[in-house]
Amino acid sequence: MQTFGRHLRSHWHLDDEGTFLNHGSFGACPKDVLAEQSRWRLLMERQPDSFFRYTVSPRLMNNELRVAAERLGRFVGTECERIAFVTNATEAVNTVLRSLRLKAGDEILVLDCVYNAVRLASEEVCKASGAKVVKVSLPIPLTANDVAERIADAAGAKTRLAIIDHIASPTAVVFPVAEITRALKAKGVRVLIDGAHAVGQLALDLPAIGADWYTANCHKWLYSPRGSAFLYATEEVAGQTVPLSVSHWHELKFPRAFDYVGTRDVSAFLSVPAAIDFIERFDTAKVRDYLMQLSREGVALMARLGAEPTAPDAMFAAMCTYTLPQRREAVPDDALQLMQGLWEKHKVQIASNAFQGKLLCRLSAQIYVERADVEHGVAALERHGWPGR
Ligand SMILES: Cc1ncc(COP(=O)(O)O)c(C=O)c1O
Repeated sequence: MQTFGRHLRSHWHLDDEGTFLNHGSFGACPKDVLAEQSRWRLLMERQPDSFFRYTVSPRLMNNELRVAAERLGRFVGTECERIAFVTNATEAVNTVLRSLRLKAGDEILVLDCVYNAVRLASEEVCKASGAKVVKVSLPIPLTANDVAERIADAAGAKTRLAIIDHIASPTAVVFPVAEITRALKAKGVRVLIDGAHAVGQLALDLPAIGADWYTANCHKWLYSPRGSAFLYATEEVAGQTVPLSVSHWHELKFPRAFDYVGTRDVSAFLSVPAAIDFIERFDTAKVRDYLMQLSREGVALMARLGAEPTAPDAMFAAMCTYTLPQRREAVPDDALQLMQGLWEKHKVQIASNAFQGKLLCRLSAQIYVERADVEHGVAALERHGWPGR
C-alpha cells in the first residue's frame, strides 16, 4: 500500500462523503492528537487546582507548557524562551501591533494579499494613532525575481512595521521571507512574518529568517487542535511584546506571561508535541515531498479548465491557487457561491476568493488526499462551473 493517500482518512474524523481539498483554511486534527488533548483535559478536570497551580503554572520554570514550547521551538529552529503560545495568528498579529506605540504619520506596510483580519487589525491600530496602512501591490501572476525589491521599495523612514505573509492566504504564494526581511532590515524596518500556513508545510529555521517576530498556526499544517499557535520574538523585541490580556504573571514577561492570561483551556497547546509526533511518524520530509508532488499534479489537471496558477511552481508548496477564466471581474460573492455550491451539490470542499478582480480557486494537498481526489474535485468544478465563467 502507498504511504500516503485516501486510506489515511481513517486517522481523521472527516465526513466520509466529502472530498476535502481545503486543509488550509481551518486545518483538521487527527484522532491521535485529539486523544492527547482529551488526556490533558481529563487531567485538568480531575484536579483543577493542581493543574493550574502546578502543572501549567508560569511560576514553575519547567511547567508543561514550557515543555511543549521547547519541543515546538526545536521543530522551528529556536529555543523555548523565544516561543509564546497564543490561540491563533490573529491574536499574535494584534499583540505585535499593540506593542508598537504608533504616532501620527507612522506607517504599517502590508502586502495586497494580506489576510483580511490582519489588514483590519492594522487599520484599527492606525485609526487610534493617526498612522496609516500602506499596501504593496503585487499583481498576479507573480514572478519570483523582483518581489523583495518591490516590497523594500515601498518601505521608508516612516515604516514602523512590515507584515509579510510567508504563505499568502488567497494566492497560496510562498514568499522568500529571508530575502524580503534582509531588504527591509537594511532600511531599518521591523518585520513580522505572518506564517499562519507555514509551520508543518515548510521546513522552518526562524533565526535564519531574521525577522523580529514570526507567528504561525499549529492548527493548520502541523495537525494540532484548533486554538494552538505561537508567536516568536527575538531577544531585542521580547521586552515590548506583552499579552493582549494582562494577568497574574505579567512581570514574568515574554514568553511566560503568555502562559497564563486568565483561566482558559490550554490543552491545545499541550497537544502540540503529539502533533509533531504525528507528522514525524510519517517522516516530515516525505510528507512535504508528497504534498508538493500532489500540488504539481493539480496544476496539470486544472490546466484543462483553463485555470492558471498565480505564481511559478517554485513559489508553491502544499497549496496552489488558480485564476479561473472569467468573462467579467470577480466579486466576493462569486467566491462564496462557488465554495458553497461545490460542497452542497458535489461534496467537494475548496477555498475561493475574489482578488485583483479575478476569481481564485485554492486547492490544498494533504496526506489523506490522493490524485483521484484532485481529479474528482476538478471534474466537479468543471461540471458545476463558476459565476462569471
Ligand atoms: C495568512 C494568514 N494570516 C492569518 C490567519 C489567521 O488565522 P487564525 O484565524 O487562526 O487566527 C490566516 C488564516 O487562514 C491566514 O491565512
